[in-house]
Amino acid sequence: MARNYSMDRRAYLSALGAGTTVALAGCTSITGGGSGTITPGTAPGFQPFEFRDGGELVGFDIDLVEAVVAETDYELGEWQTFEFDSLIQALTSDKIDMIAAAMTITDERDETIDFSDPYYSANQSVIVREDGEFSPSSLDDLSGHPVGAQSGTTGETVIQSQLIEEGKLEESNYNSYDNYVLAVEDLQNGNIDAVVVDEPVGATFADQRPVTVAFVYETGEQYGFGFRTDDDDRTEAVNAGLQAVRDNGTYEELRNEWFSG
Ligand code: ARG
Repeated sequence: MARNYSMDRRAYLSALGAGTTVALAGCTSITGGGSGTITPGTAPGFQPFEFRDGGELVGFDIDLVEAVVAETDYELGEWQTFEFDSLIQALTSDKIDMIAAAMTITDERDETIDFSDPYYSANQSVIVREDGEFSPSSLDDLSGHPVGAQSGTTGETVIQSQLIEEGKLEESNYNSYDNYVLAVEDLQNGNIDAVVVDEPVGATFADQRPVTVAFVYETGEQYGFGFRTDDDDRTEAVNAGLQAVRDNGTYEELRNEWFSG
């Protein structure tokens, strides 16, 4: 569920921004265009990219955005959280300025928003219970089994385009969840038999719960940060920041920190 925007924080940041503008008047890179803030939005429950650890929002995307925005003239606003399938709407309605949610760059999404340069590559994985009773080795093996994915994701697209539309899976066998943690809980409970999820996240669930990666389905996805289509300033600033953290070693440090396996 969407968290409400903190007006106190916003007021504080804009007061700060006003002061900064006066102090830096004449510095065109910060006075031109927007407010000088990038308020990022994400969808937690997608470890190790974004999740809650004792209430605190943490993960690779969280650290990466902080490092990238620090390389720009923008201030980082307070993180806002949504269900994954509400992020694009949150962006286009100005609730956030940037999506950082392990979001795959797709043609369909590219019609509504702009993406930064790619920052991570991934495939899909199919995870099942560890007990070994059901161990599919291809998508076709999912026929006749209840399967799940998070609403609005590319995992869901794989189920729809490769199984349901191909007549290999009954629509009633597809269960869509607000987030992947709920899907995996249903898998553990035996309510569904498989979950289709991005491979790095499937591997993390397998580390922490009695589930296992049955097989990987290659999609060659690339994650990008999302921006409004009229917001070239932030898009370009973040692309430059991304290049800077790749060049100075921070990107690799964060990768090693969050993807130890
Ligand atoms: N990469 C997939 C997609 O773009 C899944 C992303 C889910 N992200 C999340 N934070 N829950 O659809």
